[in-house]
Amino acid sequence: MQMAMYNDKVIAHFTNPHNVGELLDPDGEGTYGSPVCGDMMKISIRVENEVIVDAKFKTFGCGSAIASSSVATDMIIGKSIDEALEITNQDVLDELGGLPPIKTHCSVLADHAIRSAIYDYAKRSGRYYAGLEGFDPNADEDDQDHGCDMEEK
Ligand code: FES
Repeated sequence: MQMAMYNDKVIAHFTNPHNVGELLDPDGEGTYGSPVCGDMMKISIRVENEVIVDAKFKTFGCGSAIASSSVATDMIIGKSIDEALEITNQDVLDELGGLPPIKTHCSVLADHAIRSAIYDYAKRSGRYYAGLEGFDPNADEDDQDHGCDMEEK
């Protein structure tokens, strides 16, 4: 891996990621596979009074995906569902201080996995969130081309 491509914050979250693992009996969980590289991420959330009080992730993916999920889970803990749905992958990138352009899709993995977990929570609890309008957790499954940029890892 060419570590010089990555800033200190990305490297810190990659080497010491926060919120790794899986919640027992989560209120929502979502898995997302990147149509770009085929890597996978699973996020589970605990929700109390419409606030995400805990979140964990498991990533079968590259260092940028691990760093993205680490900051993304930090960002959603303590936020309401509506606030969490406002977070975009650009916000994740900004929080990380940027990724090399070829790695932008790795931050999308975190963004989509979070939305998938909230989608699952909404389905289980019978709630509606405007921020989920138009979101389909399986949207990219049929057109995965498994293009690979493994040489960047
Ligand atoms: S998430 Fe697949 S290369 Fe980063």
